[in-house]
Amino acid sequence: MKSLEELIEVKRDGGTHTTGELQRLVAEFVSGAMPDYQMAAWLMAAFIRGLDSEETAALTEAMARSGRMVDLTAIPGIKVDKHSTGGVGDTTTLVLAPLVASCGVPVAKMSGRGLGFTGGTLDKLESIPGFTITLEPDDFLRQVRDVGVAVIGQSPDVAPADKQMYALRDVTATVPSVPLIVGSIISKKIAGGADAIVLDVKVGSGAFMKTEADARALASELARVGKLLGREVVCVLTDMGQPLGRAVGNSLEVREAIATLAGTGPADLTELCLVFGAKMLVLGGRAADESEARDLLLDSIATGSALDTFRAWVHAQGGDERVADDVSLLPVGAHTREVRAARSGWVEGFDAEGVGRAAMITGAGRARTDDDIDPGAGLELAVKTGERVEDGDVLGTLYTSDPDTLDEAEARLLEAIHIGDAEVEPPPLFLEA
Ligand code: URA
Ligand code: CA
Repeated sequence: MKSLEELIEVKRDGGTHTTGELQRLVAEFVSGAMPDYQMAAWLMAAFIRGLDSEETAALTEAMARSGRMVDLTAIPGIKVDKHSTGGVGDTTTLVLAPLVASCGVPVAKMSGRGLGFTGGTLDKLESIPGFTITLEPDDFLRQVRDVGVAVIGQSPDVAPADKQMYALRDVTATVPSVPLIVGSIISKKIAGGADAIVLDVKVGSGAFMKTEADARALASELARVGKLLGREVVCVLTDMGQPLGRAVGNSLEVREAIATLAGTGPADLTELCLVFGAKMLVLGGRAADESEARDLLLDSIATGSALDTFRAWVHAQGGDERVADDVSLLPVGAHTREVRAARSGWVEGFDAEGVGRAAMITGAGRARTDDDIDPGAGLELAVKTGERVEDGDVLGTLYTSDPDTLDEAEARLLEAIHIGDAEVEPPPLFLEA
């Protein structure tokens, strides 16, 4: 049997691992027998040399099996999960979970916290007064059966290999690797009990994958490895050249999600939710095709059924469901500032990462995993790419409970909104498949 050092050597020299070798790497790392420095070296070797699809599938399966496997078989129906590769102001899960559940596809979801300039669904949910993101496994299953939807924190005993490997990747410049991202995402979904997965692969300045070619490579590998492991994985490439919707920040995004469920949300967020929701209903066997599915979703929004499911979900997890009818019950930063254009012109585009960083400065995000966040902080954009602005027009509004952050956040936001002389077309939300 090879030593751990010899296993690192295999990848360093561009060799191919056997399934058994990958199982050992994961098992020995999770048990503590393989120290962080050896895993860090292997991750860098894997980052540079790559893994083929069979190696990636074996790694993914070993990571999925590194802890507790959630058993959702007690919930009738096909369990479809949705995941995004991480974006700025991505409010989709808050909308999709109750929307899809209201149409009869159960949503049993584990979600993560935000780090850096990308937000996390858990932080957004916790900005609803009383909402708890921890449920005992039995209560989680019961809630999905009774209400149709539950969203909880990624439990530390599910896919612990991913949690530990991600922590190392984060500090060793090995995050943007296709096989490592595939292993990370698919292992969590398989351990979480998903039968089928819809993935939002984001492209652009606010995403891990900055170019379309990189995003396409990631999408096709996600689908291929999913298939090797017996899961249907559907990927959609979406533009992260500008933030989705208008709100970036926790309670601000809850507010935006409520508006979208009520049928009055921003056009881009609404459209994205309809497209993803339709794929989920088809995978979940609720609709024969996406056009039938879209009608079901629109109907649920129009009749108020989507918002009813949101209320029932928030109530079941201890939150104040009255926020659905009175968003003033949500915490919103008491100190605000309107950020105004310093010139006239056309909004040519955004540095979406910069917008995320401006929101982070107001207190909406965390730089380190143990930082506190300000649930009511963030920003609302007043403009989108392709719109005309005049000197002095409001580009966006900052919200915070710490007025000392406003100057820096304003400067960061102004830098992130590119105003020029050329009239530009609004970019398409989806990239051609
Ligand atoms: N999202 C994940 O869950 N894992 C990655 O490695 C990258 C994005
Ligand atoms: Ca948003």
